[in-house]
Amino acid sequence: MKAPLLPIYIWLARGHIRSTLRRSSIRWKARALVKSASLNQYSNLSHYANGGLPVPEKIVLAYSGGLDTSVAIRWLKLERGYDVVALTVDVGMDRSQEELQSRAMAAGASSHVWRDAQETFIRHFAFPALMAGARYQGHYPLATALSRPLIAREMVGVANAEGATAVAHGCTGKGNDQVRLDVSVQALAPHLKIVAPLREWEMHRESEIAYAEEHKIPVSVTKASPYSIDENLWGRSIETGVLEDPWIEPPADVYAWTKSAAEAPDDPAYVEIGFEAGLPVSLDGHLVDPVVLVKRLNALAGEHGVGRIDSVEDRLVGIKSREIYEAPAGITLLTAHEALESLTLSKEQRRLKNRIAQEYADLVYNGLWFSAHHQDLAAYIQSTQRHVSGVVRVKLHKGTATAVGRKSPKSLYDFSLATYDKGDTFDRNAAVGFINIWGLPVRVQSQAQTLGEDDIAPSP
Ligand code: ARG
Repeated sequence: MKAPLLPIYIWLARGHIRSTLRRSSIRWKARALVKSASLNQYSNLSHYANGGLPVPEKIVLAYSGGLDTSVAIRWLKLERGYDVVALTVDVGMDRSQEELQSRAMAAGASSHVWRDAQETFIRHFAFPALMAGARYQGHYPLATALSRPLIAREMVGVANAEGATAVAHGCTGKGNDQVRLDVSVQALAPHLKIVAPLREWEMHRESEIAYAEEHKIPVSVTKASPYSIDENLWGRSIETGVLEDPWIEPPADVYAWTKSAAEAPDDPAYVEIGFEAGLPVSLDGHLVDPVVLVKRLNALAGEHGVGRIDSVEDRLVGIKSREIYEAPAGITLLTAHEALESLTLSKEQRRLKNRIAQEYADLVYNGLWFSAHHQDLAAYIQSTQRHVSGVVRVKLHKGTATAVGRKSPKSLYDFSLATYDKGDTFDRNAAVGFINIWGLPVRVQSQAQTLGEDDIAPSP
């Protein structure tokens, strides 16, 4: 083909596509196809059927009903020509299936799949992290981070069932969630293509909101309240807007699950949490199913202002970010669980387990759920929990959760050894011999290497 003729061929081809598609009842395909002259954009319309009409490939989009994923549906359809299956994995959200389905369809999805994963999430993701004592950088109980591998697993399951060739998510290119979802999908189904519209199409929240308005995509976010929120049973994560200034105190409207300490009742509430081998199984003496247990604690502890976290954390992608969390049940359970471990684990077990907790929290935060390293750590943690059974009484009051009582049939606490009162069985005379041996190396060293003034109190 001679170079000067090329534009004519492209023009003819576009005209042919236009006239073919004009006959089609599927309008969006036409809009997508004539929008740009670049034909390689339509690589997802590679299968032809029905007299030359392209059949779009299927993509499974993790859909939460929020701004990012609603905009993503439209983008995947218009810009990439995909047939979008919107998948909502319910890990504890206060939106109904009907509401999300109609939103997804209004945004342009061809179908909506709903997976109730609440129980799986609590049993297999949140409770193992509770047993580990995992809090990223000492604060964050990892609600969002823990949900991502489960969502990825469901995406892969639906993609396989639907014959999809790709999966998609609404994560931006600056966060941790893109890493967690991508790495998890790659671990489970390396053949699937991963598309992240908000990573490819550098949109800011304002432009996303404008895009949603322009395309009449129903979203609940408004320009006045531009928080990015992710929530599940284990906690609520809030970012963006005024929170991006770490000097500004979070406004009251950031919080939805917790009262402020000032508004919380003046009288404390007490709750007795029962554990079996590290897992919470009862509240106030009644056996409760894991999901119900977490929901009840979220309500009760939230009422007393427990579980608010305001922190600056280090993202995996190297950015420091200001994060607000609400995790009433998570914080209450972690407090209770730690109290029970103090009674049932030895000093050495507690010491090593604390280190493992940090390693585990980092692993979850950094998206390495589907890794051998995780399996190894989980095996260790599981083993430490075999005697972590008993009851902890927690006092919830004005924003604090405090363990004020603990008991266990496997307790290592021995009253007769600990008491300063009558009934003391500790052999005080043995202490003299013990100190003699314990201090031996110190005595030897202080004689051989005489300590100077500076060694005793080093000058600054
Ligand atoms: N920084 C937290 C994490 O990486 C929370 C992310 C929350 N995501 C959101 N869309 N608000 O786990």
